[in-house]
Amino acid sequence: MTITVVGAGYVGLVTAAVFSDLGNKVYCVDVDEKKIEDLKKGKVPFFEPSLSEYLERNIKEKRLFFTKSYSDSVSKSQTIFICVGTPSKENGEADLTYLFSAVEETAKNLSGYTLITIKSTIPIGYEDDLEATVKKHAKAKFEFAASPEFLREGTAIEDTLHPDRIVIGTHSKKAEKILLELHAPISGERITCDMRSAQLVKYGSNALLATKVSFANAISILCEKMETDVTKVMEGIGADKRIGNAFLYPGVGYGGSCLPKDVLAFIAQASRFDYDFELLRAVDAINDLQVERFVNKIRRILNAAEDKKNNLYGFEIAILGLAFKPNTDDMRDAPSIKIINRLLNLKANVTAFDPQSMINAKRILPQISYAKDVYRAIEGKHAMIIVTEWPEFSQIDLSKAKKLLKKPNIVDGRNIFDPHKAKVAGFKYIGVGR
Ligand code: UGA
Repeated sequence: MTITVVGAGYVGLVTAAVFSDLGNKVYCVDVDEKKIEDLKKGKVPFFEPSLSEYLERNIKEKRLFFTKSYSDSVSKSQTIFICVGTPSKENGEADLTYLFSAVEETAKNLSGYTLITIKSTIPIGYEDDLEATVKKHAKAKFEFAASPEFLREGTAIEDTLHPDRIVIGTHSKKAEKILLELHAPISGERITCDMRSAQLVKYGSNALLATKVSFANAISILCEKMETDVTKVMEGIGADKRIGNAFLYPGVGYGGSCLPKDVLAFIAQASRFDYDFELLRAVDAINDLQVERFVNKIRRILNAAEDKKNNLYGFEIAILGLAFKPNTDDMRDAPSIKIINRLLNLKANVTAFDPQSMINAKRILPQISYAKDVYRAIEGKHAMIIVTEWPEFSQIDLSKAKKLLKKPNIVDGRNIFDPHKAKVAGFKYIGVGR
């Protein structure tokens, strides 16, 4: 089948890579000329394990083409996947500017029956506007469908090739058949439904994942007050098969380009349908609180009063991990940004290290220093702060770290160290919920 993928971001590139690798002819179109030129040479604009190998292989096999031109791509395709971003507006609603311009450009270039499948995360209630946009510009027959994406950054290719489920939301058997055939080589349960239900599956899934994280973070607060160990408590809760242990790890709060924005967009959407989604408002509030509590732990370990302004003046702090999670260089909505900005407000001196995201971080946080590795980051500092759980951080040699640090303080935002071992090694240690 010939496919056009609109949008060369995370979802678009992974979709293009996987469908071309499965033998389809795939055009990937994006308005960003520089990005398209780089991609033609196999250069991926972000870090994602094995994605560049997939792109290079399929470009070479002449199954995958990058272009700025909708006319070169859409007119030759039976199926279009819209994969553009839907960022947050100030009021939390999803900004659909890119979506509507992508659909308009697609419409202008349709020829013959085309299935336009939305992979972008879009709120319920815009179906008529989308139809009207296409009708205004196209004479060809078309249909809309929704097939939301559930890939995670860092494991995107694996998640797309072996998903738990493929959700296909259509208005006709014809559209359903096209999408079922296209996904035939991919494993996972099929869930076929109407378009709106498919969109709601996406928002509901991300909202429940965020809820699990905030629940774990709320329990971690109680564990700190009750002097119990959250890792054991969550292990015990998660061992119940009805609950499961995934997404029950407390930390510095969820971040990234999806969970924070989708929670806010879901609250806004619910409110447009006259429902106050109190549960999700609490999930969002707990997530913000987790950052504040973490900064207070840093103040506590440094013996700086938690109620005084500017009271981290003169303290040198090493932040290990900047990306919103390991195995990505993505800094979008990373908790590290909020934490570091808060520390800077308190007049601390911050040096950071991250194995992948420092180039991106320097654009967002130009005021701090960056170190070439973990040990250079912590040298002469008053505290070592773990913000992202990169696997290499759990291999840190604690006796070497103790010699390098000015003060043996660890605040571990991801519980990567054993508190007992850290104490035996001579550290003052504060984790999350234990
Ligand atoms: C998330 C979903 O997991 C994907 O299914 C979805 O396709 C994607 O959003 C999207 O909508 O595009 P992603 O943003 O890549 O994927 O990251 P996650 O692995 O979900 O992690 C999100 C955040 O939650 C991270 O900051 C992570 O550190 C945090 N988290 C996760 C915890 O704090 N504790 C946990 O137990 C799990």
